[in-house]
Amino acid sequence: MKKKPSKNKMWGGRFTSKPSNLLQKVNSSIHFDYKLFEEDIEASIAHATMLAECKIISKKDSISIIAGLKKINNKFKKGNFKLNPELEDIHMNIEAQLQKEIGDPAKRLHTARSRNDQVATDLKLYVRKRNDQLIKEISNLQYALSKKAKAGYNILMPGFTHMQTAQPITFGHHLLAYVEMLSRDKSRFIDCNKRLNDNPLGSGALSGTSFPINRKITTKSLGFNKPMQNSLDAVSSRDFVLETISSITICSIHLSRLAEEIVMWMSSGFNFISLPDNLTTGSSIMPQKKNPDLAELIRGKTGRLISSFINMSIVMKGLPLAYSKDLQEDKEPTFDAIENIQLCLQSMTAMITSLKANKENMELAAASQFSTATDLADWLVQNLNIPFRTAHEITGKIVKMCVDENITLEQMDIEKLKKIDKRINKEIYKALNIRNSVERKISEGGTSPKNVLKQASQWIKRLENGK
Ligand code: ARG
Repeated sequence: MKKKPSKNKMWGGRFTSKPSNLLQKVNSSIHFDYKLFEEDIEASIAHATMLAECKIISKKDSISIIAGLKKINNKFKKGNFKLNPELEDIHMNIEAQLQKEIGDPAKRLHTARSRNDQVATDLKLYVRKRNDQLIKEISNLQYALSKKAKAGYNILMPGFTHMQTAQPITFGHHLLAYVEMLSRDKSRFIDCNKRLNDNPLGSGALSGTSFPINRKITTKSLGFNKPMQNSLDAVSSRDFVLETISSITICSIHLSRLAEEIVMWMSSGFNFISLPDNLTTGSSIMPQKKNPDLAELIRGKTGRLISSFINMSIVMKGLPLAYSKDLQEDKEPTFDAIENIQLCLQSMTAMITSLKANKENMELAAASQFSTATDLADWLVQNLNIPFRTAHEITGKIVKMCVDENITLEQMDIEKLKKIDKRINKEIYKALNIRNSVERKISEGGTSPKNVLKQASQWIKRLENGK
């Protein structure tokens, strides 16, 4: 007798042969979607409970299904669950295992459900949970930055525009700029989770179901706000992924800017900060080297994080309603982006917590390059009532004289200054002092140590209160 060809157990009914090796290789997603394991079990338990409550399956079957799913969950956690690529994905792996565990009742679990609404639900649960973790990671980094800002509220450093020394600022002020950026990043993740939190489960393959399901039950047990209102939208939309990855992208750009600054600040030209040995690396050939690899990797990973967003955007564009298998390609960029931004946030927190500011070098640099020229112009305006544009011109000439004589503004002879305007007196030198300069920047959001101390303390308090 001819041997019957082995077919897929889950959908082999209308097939005469099993998938080719090539198809199996391309089609199988188990090697990455196993990460949805917990969520798949959670959603299946909610579904089985609802089916019984709506009398679509018996209470007895539902109890058996739930017990089986819990058993599988334990097995997986202990590493005793063998994933089978022939069963394509995590959903079919779990369902097949359930049949092994409990037999026939397992065949009722997939009533009024499709893998399409199942996978959308699992992924939402996963992204929601991971977004919550990212929100915490961002808070941790904000806290580390705020603490360092408080410690450095009175350390002076050069502020730059065009990467040229511009005006003196405080180190604390510089760090708090990132706390502000991160707070907007955090609000984006919070916002993602608000919009994400509607339930796709119960949408079936695409059109809903003829079974008398109650979607409010699964909505409640899975912690969603309400059932999604259009089954086509529910199974085929991934804007919650796009939104999350776009928030990750923006956050990673912020981290990359800070990483770039850490690399610069650590370089011998700057020597503004140092990092401990356990967060830096050596060179295999140059024994003297201490490299900021962690910062460089944060900067480098931004490439793949931005690409995840582009990747997902391209997968989604031009995809007709409703589900197409293209959507299976949503998972790898999602997992990769979430895992890597988490690593970046943790790495940055470790670096910020342990970096040491080299106060002397920072303050030396802050006082160089005529960094208080704007203060000089402001002094002329504030004390001699000279229009700012004229004061700018005068100051420019003074700077030019200093450049020619190779001296600092403070070294400029008072008599020479008086020749420019006889009303100029020795008080002008006070305006040139970098400490005076920052202490006068008391405008809202300005760099004065007083402002910075206040803001750093407020942030610390806010973050300690979980906000
Ligand atoms: N592994 C699939 C995915 O990730 C599950 C959904 C499969 N649905 C289907 N109609 N083949 O999207």
